[in-house]
Amino acid sequence: MDVVVLLGAPGSGKGTVAARIVQQLGLTPIASGDMLREAVARKTAAGTEAARYMSCGELVPDALIGRMISDLIGAGPDDGRYLLDGFPRTVPQMGILDAILADCGGVLKAAVVIEVADAVVTARLAGRQVCPACKAVYHVETLPPKRAGVCDACAAALVQRADDFPATIAQRLAVYHRQTAGVIDAYAARGMLKRVDGVGGVDTVVERMIRALK
Ligand code: AP5
Repeated sequence: MDVVVLLGAPGSGKGTVAARIVQQLGLTPIASGDMLREAVARKTAAGTEAARYMSCGELVPDALIGRMISDLIGAGPDDGRYLLDGFPRTVPQMGILDAILADCGGVLKAAVVIEVADAVVTARLAGRQVCPACKAVYHVETLPPKRAGVCDACAAALVQRADDFPATIAQRLAVYHRQTAGVIDAYAARGMLKRVDGVGGVDTVVERMIRALK
């Protein structure tokens, strides 16, 4: 099993880039935030616990997200190739991933961080619209749907994410700098980190990402 870890601040473009590269690079995406939102929507025990943290912009407990990721990867094929979008984002979660890989003889191929300044990600998140049905992501200015408020792919009504309001965005950014900086430093110290400039059009950032991973 191979794993690529995708890091970056909230709104840096992880989900947008992931959606465009997975097919080309033959990777299966696992987005921790999508997985948690699905558990919240299904009102599972894990989802109910996670919702308390997500609604105020805090990270859910390491053990909870670690269990969910481990179960998902464990249920997949031995030769799976995964793009982990948003996991790990604390140093203890790095340890959980190391243990998962050690258990199944898996290999961490790279950790990539998309770098974007806080002011830019704040504007991106404030204008983000998402499709609740097919999960497509838009932006009212930089990536608008063809018909305002309607998903191009499945025609569902677009919504704003519950954690994309100004106070929660600020809290999520503070949490990112406090808790994920150590993960970036640790992967850099292992010689596994690749940095991608996340400022520019989506196509440009996607090209940079593909170059970094080849
Ligand atoms: P999660 O869903 O992972 O949120 P996040 O990391 O905060 O990242 P986002 O999904 O907000 O942003 P993104 O980087 O994917 O940007 P996007 O591509 O959408 O996590 C949500 C919550 O779940 C967390 O707060 C936490 O509570 C919990 N959680 C998740 N993982 C966890 C973990 N491992 N441990 C503990 N808790 C966890 O782009 C943003 C906008 O910008 C869009 O509108 C897009 O159209 C636009 N855009 C993208 N790229 C560009 C570009 N190049 N130019 C212009 N606009 C662009």
